[in-house]
Amino acid sequence: MPALLTQRLFFWGAGAIVVASLLMVIWPGTAQAFTHYLQAAYSPYPNIPNSRIDNCSLCHQTDTVNWPGLNRFGQDYASHGYSFAAISGLDSDNDSYTNQAELTALSFPGNFTDRPLSVSGRPYPLYLPIVFKKPLPVSNGQYVVLAWNDLGMHCMDPSYEDFAVLPPFNTLWAQVIRRGKEPDVVTNKVTVEYKIIDNSYSVIKTNFWHYAHQLFNLPKPLPPNVGLAGFGLNGQMHTSGDHFVAEGIPLTEYRDSDRTTPYPYQLAEVVAKDQDGNILASTQTVAPISTEMNCQNCHTDNGQGNPGIATGVLKQNILTWHDAEEGTHLMDNRPVLCANCHSSNALGLPGTADVPNLSLAMHRKHQPLDDFTMEGTCYQCHPGPDTKCLRGAMYQNGETCQSCHGNMADVANPSRRPWLDEPRCTQCHDAAHGENPNKLYRFSTGHGGVYCQACHGSQHAIYPSIEPNDNIQSVLQQGHAGTLSKCTVCHTRVPDEDEGPHQGDDDD
Ligand code: HEC
Ligand code: HEC
Ligand code: HEC
Ligand code: HEC
Ligand code: HEC
Ligand code: HEC
Ligand code: HEC
Ligand code: HEC
Repeated sequence: MPALLTQRLFFWGAGAIVVASLLMVIWPGTAQAFTHYLQAAYSPYPNIPNSRIDNCSLCHQTDTVNWPGLNRFGQDYASHGYSFAAISGLDSDNDSYTNQAELTALSFPGNFTDRPLSVSGRPYPLYLPIVFKKPLPVSNGQYVVLAWNDLGMHCMDPSYEDFAVLPPFNTLWAQVIRRGKEPDVVTNKVTVEYKIIDNSYSVIKTNFWHYAHQLFNLPKPLPPNVGLAGFGLNGQMHTSGDHFVAEGIPLTEYRDSDRTTPYPYQLAEVVAKDQDGNILASTQTVAPISTEMNCQNCHTDNGQGNPGIATGVLKQNILTWHDAEEGTHLMDNRPVLCANCHSSNALGLPGTADVPNLSLAMHRKHQPLDDFTMEGTCYQCHPGPDTKCLRGAMYQNGETCQSCHGNMADVANPSRRPWLDEPRCTQCHDAAHGENPNKLYRFSTGHGGVYCQACHGSQHAIYPSIEPNDNIQSVLQQGHAGTLSKCTVCHTRVPDEDEGPHQGDDDD
């Protein structure tokens, strides 16, 4: 192979054709043999010719360093007797779509970040590659880092000029583990950096910074791209006891490379370094964000949510109706932060005496709308039929919001403390697979002092998830999606399986 030549000229897609034609000039015979593999795919998949996957990247690595190495699809192809039929049922790249499904949908079966386009609903192209990027080394052999979002989904308002339910505020946690016969959770002499991939700024993707000062009554304006807790879209996490945290990252659902299409399952890259700045370990995890609160289903002009009110602006309809019903003057005091009067444990605001907390007010008022289905009720305001924030193992086992949270009346139970009294794994699983006493799932630790979320992911996205980005961390760390279960991710010597996570009488 003319390594230099291909390294210079090869890049994604079209580059492959350049390489192919160059090869043909130099080694006509060989090139024909290579194109032959590609052409062999045309007969089982007649939609391939001239499509986006009609190139050598179907089977080969796309980056210059690894070219012409085979990707996982190419490897499977070679190891299964060069038969497309033999590998059609496999999912070579582990992105939860079979090779057959991908080849039919014209996405690359050997590229984890490239997946079939969604076919229903608002067309979120969730499955386009976000950026072509070779992940950093996952481990230097001595350390691993695991990261996760504390909530399974974060919601923010699409805009802030009229009112705010929730600001952009994404929180990432990480734990660094020193590998060993007896691994150690460490925070000393290690720093952890984070960045959101393909998302380096937020200011022109939301008007939050125009109104943050007023809404949150801040002593001074919030600097652009900095969130309410002082963190930006990249930076260093803070140490907090046994973990690292970046709180309130002001993430929006628009990537730098596409500022018009919402992308709710953004990826964060998290990197652990030693004091000299050497990379010890890295990982990627989802930072979820959605503006899909479908208030417009009922609060459009003269909609059922505000009979007789038509301001022409969704949020102004809501405020006008609130003023009419409650005698408030919200329209005159825009922008309004609902939690200024309705207390919110999410924002840590006490609200006004005698006004119900925001969760209670919202769920109680809308309780008559309950049709006892997830789609017809919770997904009217929580994201949503397009975002599908419930996407993990329990969803795949047929559970809905109501299985864990109950229906509107249960959520609107006035004796519930919102954000604190939440479902528990032990509603369905045994105590050996449950949270720590009196602690929420997200604050609970299990095996070896590792957080539940490090091995299982966030609530609503418990591994494995139907959203492929959620599975990336497991794939990077242990080679396959699902619960982090491979002992040697952390242990250097294979321990006794009988004493593994949830088996022995350890910290569980
Ligand atoms: C359907 C899968 C497939 C496609 C498409 C494909 N190849 Fe390959 N290629 C392979 C396999 C498998 C090998 C490994 C050698 C073998 O088993 O024959 C290979 C080997 C090679 C090699 C030799 C690598 C080495 O290390 O010896 C080169 C170069 C190459 N291919 C170039 C290309 C080019 C250029 C294209 C696009 C025109 C292409 N291939 C398309 C499957 C494919
Ligand atoms: C499925 C329909 C539906 C959806 C979706 C919906 N609402 Fe409503 N909303 C209603 C109805 C119906 C009422 C009660 C109207 C009445 O009192 O007759 C209402 C009332 C309200 C009120 C007035 C409360 C008061 O002061 O009495 C507010 C505020 C409100 N909704 C906010 C929202 C917000 C914010 C969203 C989106 C997060 C939303 N609604 C989504 C149907 C809906
Ligand atoms: C200035 C204070 C104030 C602000 C700001 C405010 N509300 Fe209210 N809200 C009230 C009061 C007072 C009531 C009546 C409470 C009662 O009846 O006990 C009320 C009632 C409601 C109700 C009906 C509650 C129920 O149980 O019937 C809903 C829903 C509601 N507000 C939603 C909102 C939303 C959404 C926002 C932000 C857009 C908001 N409120 C902002 C003061 C406020
Ligand atoms: C009409 C809109 C609306 C509907 C319908 C709705 N929610 Fe909510 N929900 C909200 C809003 C707004 C908040 C944010 C309150 C806050 O910031 O504290 C919220 C917060 C929550 C919370 C977190 C706060 C808490 O109370 O613990 C849970 C859990 C929740 N909703 C569950 C549900 C479930 C389950 C359903 C369906 C049975 C549902 N919601 C239907 C609007 C809605
Ligand atoms: C398998 C059980 C389960 C299902 C199903 C489930 N939840 Fe939750 N949910 C939880 C748990 C557990 C928490 C709290 C975890 C914590 O804070 O540690 C939670 C928390 C929440 C919160 C607070 C914010 C957050 O993300 O922690 C909201 C809002 C919420 N759920 C809404 C929903 C909605 C809407 C659905 C359906 C689309 C749903 N949940 C389905 C278990 C579930
Ligand atoms: C409403 C009942 C319910 C609740 C609550 C619930 N689960 Fe599950 N879970 C199930 C069911 C059903 C299955 C599938 C059958 C099985 O494996 O037991 C399952 C399976 C699992 C699996 C195996 C997934 C796989 O395919 O590898 C894990 C891990 C899991 N749950 C974790 C959790 C965690 C963590 C919580 C708390 C945040 C939780 N579950 C809360 C019902 C529930
Ligand atoms: C070091 C990784 C690790 C940690 C930390 C961890 N788990 Fe697990 N968990 C596993 C593995 C591996 C399995 C599958 C083997 C099994 O079922 O025992 C599992 C299984 C589960 C299941 C599913 C059991 C079933 O019926 O299928 C639940 C529920 C669960 N864990 C909850 C938790 C909770 C809650 C915590 C935190 C208190 C936690 N886990 C901490 C690795 C972990
Ligand atoms: C995410 C990292 C991680 C994974 C994955 C993991 N462990 Fe551990 N394990 C730890 C940590 C941390 C300790 C605490 C060591 C100590 O006691 O200081 C530990 C301790 C243990 C111990 C007690 C060791 C001792 O001598 O005190 C056993 C046994 C064990 N693990 C078995 C397993 C098995 C079996 C698996 C796979 C099923 C597994 N572990 C997967 C992190 C992990």
